[in-house]
Amino acid sequence: MSHNQKSPVLVTGGAGYIGSHAVLALKQAGYPVVVLDNLVYGHQDLVEKVLQVDFVQGDISDRALLTKVFADYGIQAVMHFAAYAYVGESVTNPAKYYRNNVAGTLTLLETMVEVGIKTIVFSSTCATYGNPEQLPIPETHPQNPINPYGMTKLMVEAILSDFDQAYDLRSVRFRYFNAAGADPAGRLGEDHSPETHLIPLVLLTALGRRENIAIFGTDYDTPDGTCIRDYIHVTDLAQAHVQGLEYLLTGGRTEVFNLGNGSGFSVREVIAAGETVSGRSIPVVESPRRPGDPAVLIGSATKAQKILSWQPQYPEIEVIMQHAWAWHQKRHSGA
Ligand SMILES: NC(=O)c1ccc[n+]([C@@H]2O[C@H](COP(=O)([O-])OP(=O)(O)OC[C@H]3O[C@@H](n4cnc5c(N)ncnc54)[C@H](O)[C@@H]3O)[C@@H](O)[C@H]2O)c1
Repeated sequence: MSHNQKSPVLVTGGAGYIGSHAVLALKQAGYPVVVLDNLVYGHQDLVEKVLQVDFVQGDISDRALLTKVFADYGIQAVMHFAAYAYVGESVTNPAKYYRNNVAGTLTLLETMVEVGIKTIVFSSTCATYGNPEQLPIPETHPQNPINPYGMTKLMVEAILSDFDQAYDLRSVRFRYFNAAGADPAGRLGEDHSPETHLIPLVLLTALGRRENIAIFGTDYDTPDGTCIRDYIHVTDLAQAHVQGLEYLLTGGRTEVFNLGNGSGFSVREVIAAGETVSGRSIPVVESPRRPGDPAVLIGSATKAQKILSWQPQYPEIEVIMQHAWAWHQKRHSGA
């Protein structure tokens, strides 16, 4: 096996939703992987039973631990997923978000520079754009986040640019739209607690674990009056991370890429797809708009397609929902 010739990669937040799928994709591509996760939100059972990679329980703000892990495993690149990502909580408790997402990341980056690791793939978000002035949103769109969560990611993007200039730390920053779906082979999926994302909420309702699904706003200027979002399959996201890593490892310069499908689905369309894949009816409650929800968010990912030769394999909402449904049934069976 050519296994040992590839650069060992540290995946922060690898016990979480997107990070764990990235670990599978890295393993598939032959990279030795170490997961660092403090398990505030991650799932140790999935790391042990499914990912079966080296796991370090710890925090990105622990400089001594990072230094040891980098040395012990000969780490040559980092994929950085670890962060808090609840938009609403970031408004009521911004300190928690700036502390973890910005200060924690700064410690990680400083330690990387100290030990000479020059390559990082970073999870940014479409929330850095704020309200769209143009659709689909290109990477050149102005970045005016409307919540502290989006601001933390924008600040890290700025830090990464400056670290490239000063310390030659090269990065790929991925701005994801809505990560969705689950490993097509059913090994992994989404299991946030608390859950705030639409697709799992819809499917948990189909499973009878929630009474109904709320639709926030039915009077938007969209064909059916509900918000439209760009849902990107988590396995497609994971694959993009491997390609972003390889781009950097083969000398690519610091870049930013949107990751989305370039098309969107309304809340009602997602619920309808949930009814189709589950064969169950899903009760809805029509509720008022939430402040800060734009009517439509769709990203243009043509840059990633061109520069990274990345092509989503699972763009259809029914397929995304099928994979998510299979996962939720398995994860919650017998409970
Ligand atoms: N889910 C989405 O749709 C989406 C969209 C855009 C961006 N993102 C970003 O992608 C990344 C992953 O998101 P996710 O949905 O997989 O979230 P997640 O909560 O499932 O995963 C994050 C993981 O990081 C860990 N973690 C948090 N702080 C840590 C710390 N200080 N040290 C070590 N581990 C820590 C958590 O325990 C968790 O396992 C995040 O950075 C998030 O902001 C997610």
